[in-house]
Amino acid sequence: MLELGVLVSGSGTNLQAVLDAIANRQLDARVRLVISNKAGAPALERARRAGVSTLVLSHRDFATREAYDDELVEALTSARVGLVLLAGFMRMLTPVFLRAFPARIVNIHPSLLPAFPGLRAQAQALAHGVKLSGCTVHFVDDGVDTGPIITQRAVPVLDDDSVESLTARILEQEHLALVEALGWLAAGRVELVAATAESRGRARLRAG
Ligand code: GRF
Repeated sequence: MLELGVLVSGSGTNLQAVLDAIANRQLDARVRLVISNKAGAPALERARRAGVSTLVLSHRDFATREAYDDELVEALTSARVGLVLLAGFMRMLTPVFLRAFPARIVNIHPSLLPAFPGLRAQAQALAHGVKLSGCTVHFVDDGVDTGPIITQRAVPVLDDDSVESLTARILEQEHLALVEALGWLAAGRVELVAATAESRGRARLRAG
């Protein structure tokens, strides 16, 4: 069973998708702790409703990013978290955090990476005029949205899309992609392939 720690900053619809999949027994996992860097994040209420422990750690209370990450690591390890999920967590993590959970941090991003990493990915896609966008579930490494890709889902970008309409279309797919990827991780089906001279490190799905 996956022992999840989920880091959030906002509305928490991805967290909700995970909580629902667990409640429906579609996903063999348990959310041990939800941490938000924002006190008012609606994601916290979603966690509480599901009976999951929550913690607010504001980055403003820490002198450095490393000190903040130390505290995150401490909270997650005390809660016996095995896999960390970044579900709309709007903070960059330092090597302090990455070293504590090697190949055990997963992020969901609202574009088809490597296109449009970073903030406001949906607005970037619209500004570029792409005809397809989507979402990516990937392992986190020390770059911005650069780690090994576990799965992706595509959606059309329509001529009359706004940031809001594209965001909503992508978000629906995020929920599906995330639950599917976590299911593969729970089943031990995601394998990391080391980088070679020709290719970067990547993730591969073993037959189930
Ligand atoms: C999602 O679009 C996710 O891809 C991005 O932040 C957003 C979080 O949405 N990293 P929610 O809080 O899960 O509703």
